[in-house]
Amino acid sequence: MTSGGKTESRHPIVVQQQTALFDDAHPLLLESGMRLAPVSVAYETHGTLNASGDNAILVCHALTGSAHVAGFASDDPTSAGWWDPMIGPGRPLDTDRYFVVCSNFLGGCYGTTGPASTNPATGKRYGIDFPAVTVRDVVKVQHELLQHLGVHRLATVVGGSLGGMQVLEWGAMFPGEVASTIPIATAAQHSPWCIGLNDIARQAIMNDPDWMGGDYPPDRQPERGLSLARQIAMISYRSDVSFMERFHRDVAGQPKGATLRDHLGVLYQAESYLRYQGTKLVHRFDANTYLSITRTMDSHDLARNRGALEDVLAGIALPALCVGINSDVLYPAEEQKRIADGLAGGIYYEIDSIFGHDAFLIEYDQLGGAVSAFLKDLA
Ligand code: COA
Repeated sequence: MTSGGKTESRHPIVVQQQTALFDDAHPLLLESGMRLAPVSVAYETHGTLNASGDNAILVCHALTGSAHVAGFASDDPTSAGWWDPMIGPGRPLDTDRYFVVCSNFLGGCYGTTGPASTNPATGKRYGIDFPAVTVRDVVKVQHELLQHLGVHRLATVVGGSLGGMQVLEWGAMFPGEVASTIPIATAAQHSPWCIGLNDIARQAIMNDPDWMGGDYPPDRQPERGLSLARQIAMISYRSDVSFMERFHRDVAGQPKGATLRDHLGVLYQAESYLRYQGTKLVHRFDANTYLSITRTMDSHDLARNRGALEDVLAGIALPALCVGINSDVLYPAEEQKRIADGLAGGIYYEIDSIFGHDAFLIEYDQLGGAVSAFLKDLA
């Protein structure tokens, strides 16, 4: 395929878009009762929306993800979207057939309004004065975006982890506008175990003196705290077996002497990996946004103000492919089976992997096969 004399690759460079969805005349009414304006949303689309506006698929991203879900953001081969193997012509979310949309969620720091955005009332960043956001608020903004794009009905809505929480809320909030759902490695109610882990990560940020009560300048965020928060999260995204297979007890270098100081200066490969991942996040993410999003996750409760969870799940009468991962310690496979059993149209598929929670970002053969088969059956 050629365009403008240039040969297009199979995955052209995607241009992320941004649109203002709410303003002072039409503010966003949050679940808390607070009003927020203006609200802009960053999003990416792949494929073409059909005339009846019903071939769309919404992909919901997880904690530190963005709208850049597929294709390349630039000429840089490492700039592929975070779920690129799942999306494209002939791929599980087949863009020859579907119009795939992914947006940065409300409260994010990748182009959608969030704690790092400017508060029009002060001219400074919102920081921790940003409203507390729930998963329902996130979904409400996604719904507005889809209406703006002319989407009348989603063929499916899919996502893992926090993305899966949005998927479940879509089934409860807009059942008439979704043909099916694919919640992956997620929760119907955020568990005390996950809340505890999130709190430790938040404490790491808030105990860093550079956090400054949430008022740090844009160019000097609490890097040590944010890095530590990421490391705590990263180890929970993996499994003991995957760490053993990958790092063994290997050490990078030898201590220069016999003191504790000398020994603390040398890292096991497992430590080196976690520290690297912590530093990497610091360069691409905002600390207050991390606090905000983890609180959004903690407040997630599909049953809030709706009655008993069993009744809420049973009332969602949509075909649902619920995906669990047998080594996930964060959102265990048993929890996914319970969601599948509870949902009126739920079926369960399990990914066999040593990679823990991260398997939904790694095990594309298994996940892609299950998603393709599910969508084919529906069609
Ligand atoms: N010491 C230091 N760095 C190391 C290392 C070691 N012993 N071993 C590997 N690395 C580095 C590699 O050099 C590589 O660096 P690069 O990313 O700059 O190229 C990086 O670690 C590879 O990371 P890895 O985790 O091995 O990649 P992966 O392919 O196994 O997994 C992801 C990819 C995207 C799943 C994973 O990196 C990730 O980001 N997980 C978190 C996802 C997330 O946020 N989930 C949220 C759910 S709520």
